Amino acid sequence: MPKKSKQSIIKIENVWKTYTMGETKVHALRGMNFQVKEGEFVAIMGPSGSGKSTAVNMIGCLDVPTKGEIYLERKNIAHLEESELAQIRGKIIGFIFQQFNLIPTLTAKENIMLPMIFQGVPKQKRLKRAEKLLREVGLKERMDHRPTELSGGQQQRVAIARSLANDPDVILADEPTGNLDSKTGKIVMEYLNMLHKKEKKTIIMVTHDKSLSKFAERKERLKDGKII
Ligand SMILES: Nc1ncnc2c1ncn2[C@@H]1O[C@H](COP(=O)(O)OP(=O)(O)O)[C@@H](O)[C@H]1O
Ligand SMILES: [Mg+2]
Repeated sequence: MPKKSKQSIIKIENVWKTYTMGETKVHALRGMNFQVKEGEFVAIMGPSGSGKSTAVNMIGCLDVPTKGEIYLERKNIAHLEESELAQIRGKIIGFIFQQFNLIPTLTAKENIMLPMIFQGVPKQKRLKRAEKLLREVGLKERMDHRPTELSGGQQQRVAIARSLANDPDVILADEPTGNLDSKTGKIVMEYLNMLHKKEKKTIIMVTHDKSLSKFAERKERLKDGKII
């Protein structure tokens, strides 16, 4: 039997994003078109200021475009209100940021439990899952440490575990190794690779490091707000 061809999980159609700063307008995206199939691992590359974070944030339901359509799992998310975006984001998306973005007053375990609170997961289940995820990223001994008590690489592994809290379909990693030395960065990349291969997650990673983009199955370049 022929293999069923995979569906697009993300589809960006002629998306524009314009920021207005007083008198000036910044066109961060200028008619971007882009698609990702279920289970793909795509790297988005391109110079600083080319609109990479803007694009990834809109895929992740953190913002909406000025013009154009964005489909996530075949639902148009381009015109939704924040409350609807937040719901979809919590269920479908896992984020990994360059700056880790962990909550400094919470322990590693609590940081991972937080997104599950928003999804109404009962406490015992949250605790169990946070511990399981921390063991999987090799941080069994660091569960009750706060971010300042962890190295950069350890913090990013907590962030990876947190991104998986609600078992999302899509992982968005915006320069995930940008604040790490190359050896630690490689470890983080190996976790992302494992999520792609073993857990069949769809992964979109922003990077400008060529040696990291080789982990991706496909590379796309963004320049001046457009895929080239
Ligand atoms: N919140 C914002 N307000 C105004 N301008 C912004 C905002 N976010 C991004 N920009 C501008 O949009 C352009 C694209 O930014 P960004 O998506 O962060 O690029 P990249 O991630 O590729 O470096 C840049 O010129 C940036 O200054
Ligand atoms: Mg960026």
